[in-house]
Amino acid sequence: MKTPEIAPAKGKLGILLVGLGAVSTTTIAGVLAIRKGLANPIGSLTQMGTVRLGKRTEGRSPKIKEIVPLAELDNVVFGGWDIFADNSYQAARTAGVLDATLLDQIKPELEAITPMSAVFDQRYVKRLDGPNVKKGKNKRDLAEQLRADIRGFKKQHGLDRLVMVWCGSTEVFLKETAAHQSIESFEKALEANDLSIPSSMVYAYAALMEDVPFANGAPNLTVDVPAIMSLAQQRKLPVCGKDFKTGQTWLKTVIAPGIKARLLGVEGWYSTNILGNRDGEVLDDPESFKTKEESKKSVLDYILQPHLYPGLYENLHHVVRINYYPPRGDNKEGWDNIDLVGWLGYKMQLKINFLCRDSILAAPIVLDLALFLDLAKRTGMSGIQEWLSFYFKSPMHAPGLYPEHDLFIQLMKLKNTLRHMVGEELITHLGLEYYD
Ligand SMILES: NC(=O)c1ccc[n+]([C@@H]2O[C@H](COP(=O)([O-])OP(=O)(O)OC[C@H]3O[C@@H](n4cnc5c(N)ncnc54)[C@H](O)[C@@H]3O)[C@@H](O)[C@H]2O)c1
Repeated sequence: MKTPEIAPAKGKLGILLVGLGAVSTTTIAGVLAIRKGLANPIGSLTQMGTVRLGKRTEGRSPKIKEIVPLAELDNVVFGGWDIFADNSYQAARTAGVLDATLLDQIKPELEAITPMSAVFDQRYVKRLDGPNVKKGKNKRDLAEQLRADIRGFKKQHGLDRLVMVWCGSTEVFLKETAAHQSIESFEKALEANDLSIPSSMVYAYAALMEDVPFANGAPNLTVDVPAIMSLAQQRKLPVCGKDFKTGQTWLKTVIAPGIKARLLGVEGWYSTNILGNRDGEVLDDPESFKTKEESKKSVLDYILQPHLYPGLYENLHHVVRINYYPPRGDNKEGWDNIDLVGWLGYKMQLKINFLCRDSILAAPIVLDLALFLDLAKRTGMSGIQEWLSFYFKSPMHAPGLYPEHDLFIQLMKLKNTLRHMVGEELITHLGLEYYD
């Protein structure tokens, strides 16, 4: 395999976030705080991760950012859109994730990041409404306005490159339609204000038309349609999604591979959450919850492979619940009960109680995705970025392939992709050479 040429990360990188809510403001404030030396980038592979190169005996484990040219945090500029006009300081205070003492130390920088007016239609997010919304004669016109925003932002900040990450709300469950089949049908549908084009697709289209790679942090359909994928291929742009893998699903993709490795049976997996932030409020609408539920539920089927192990996993009852419970704010509590079956059919139970913080887990993912997507583009990689599956609950995959959900396989794929990018030997863990 030929080693790709990687263009250097010169100049500034604009990170455009759709939705300046809890996740986005926690990401932005985090990067600003890290830049000022107020905090460490805990949870971020691009900032703290290492990659082993060569044989175990060589002792070479440089940082990821030392082997591939990633944008420096000092060269990152944030921007975005929201239906509320609050600046990032006010939005971060409303989200209530980070302490005011930290936010006040970066207040002027946060206040300077104000949202551009959004493309929004309440039919796709029923529990939300806000004033900072664009008007246009049809969705094509709205897409053109977003494109003008992107160009204006690039010019205003003297940016070299841009990436866009969807951190907006979860939209209602949508299925692929005829309008999504080709770029032509999609553009016609934009003009006809077709209901099958939600706001998130208008952003994705605008991003790709402006040569901006796109990551989908919500479980929305957005880029998972042939029209948007053809556009990404045609314009040679990387895309990835969907739905950040942060709390309960992340743990599921750590624990399920362990259970499967030991060939223990699973009769049932009951997952429930209480969550009190705006995301929880949006997900309280059954139509938005359906989008999330589909994304969360697919994981176990793929990891446990009931078609290969019918006796162990065929009748698994997998239940996922999210309950909106305001007192907890962004501090989600998740419970998992797993009903296991062991040797001779003897039953066991495993209980997990995860008191996590949603946006604290999501923020380093947003940062990594932005930096890795920018790297992918500079490396000439386009279309679906399967190596970024590590970050998603429902990783995108080529037609005819099944998605890889096991976190450890995903991490190996990510690191091997980095090794491949720089012409280092891939690590297979065969290891016979140590015993020759
Ligand atoms: N935090 C996590 O652990 C996590 C994990 C996986 C996925 N997600 C997803 O990430 C997204 C953001 O989560 P959050 O906790 O920040 O939610 P949030 O409600 O705090 O923020 C979302 C923001 O998006 C804005 N918005 C909605 N539609 C928009 C549009 N069309 N254009 C511009 N802005 C729009 C909202 O006004 C809001 O400010 C949600 O879809 C959530 O499901 C979050």
